[in-house]
Amino acid sequence: MSIKGFIFDLDGVLTDTAEYHYRAWKRLADELGIPFTREENEALRGIPRRESLLMLLKGRILPEATLNELMERKNGYYLEYIREISPRDVLPGARELLSDIRAAGLKAALGSASKNAREVIERLGIADLFDAVADGYSVTRQKPAPDLFLHAATLLDLSPAECVVVEDATAGVEAALAGGFTVVGIGPAERVGKAHVVLPTLAGVRLDDLLAQVAVHT
Ligand code: BG6
Ligand code: MG
Repeated sequence: MSIKGFIFDLDGVLTDTAEYHYRAWKRLADELGIPFTREENEALRGIPRRESLLMLLKGRILPEATLNELMERKNGYYLEYIREISPRDVLPGARELLSDIRAAGLKAALGSASKNAREVIERLGIADLFDAVADGYSVTRQKPAPDLFLHAATLLDLSPAECVVVEDATAGVEAALAGGFTVVGIGPAERVGKAHVVLPTLAGVRLDDLLAQVAVHT
């Protein structure tokens, strides 16, 4: 079956928000007196807000209301930091690939666990390059469950076999594989090695080359 659409993760694929997430979690962790390193932040790639907080708390049990307050506080910091995001922050190659996809008449969706995804693509100036947005509000079961990508494919009116998922997180690659998608992993093999095609970044990646690499696996 031929590829008719692409589903892109956002954070770490189209822009590098990991640093902003790190700064926001670090500020919260400092306030709570909990040690939190950049390495620990790496493990939160693709992990939803609530699970990220539970990992940061390292087993500390807190009432539900406190968890909610801490998530809101972290998100407030994150929103403060992402005000700095502008079209200059689209990662190299991403805008070109999205433009290629449109020019070729293929479809593109966003498939991000983030509840801030719409705001981020607006700030990046790439919102109008997507036919559909699946974000942190779209499904209940988060990555590594396939639900978010399946929802994105439904919005595009395509089957998983007709879509390529582009992901930078281990949980995201697993989610896409579980959904029956062809997967392009962005980053080191230790993180995304299970993907069908692994690329260091999207820099210089053009649609024809990518479709040729993906075709071997479809
Ligand atoms: C993912 C990020 O895209 O979104 C995670 O990789 C983040 O680090 C998750 O925790 C949820 O984001 P948000 O913006 O809803 O807190
Ligand atoms: Mg990501």
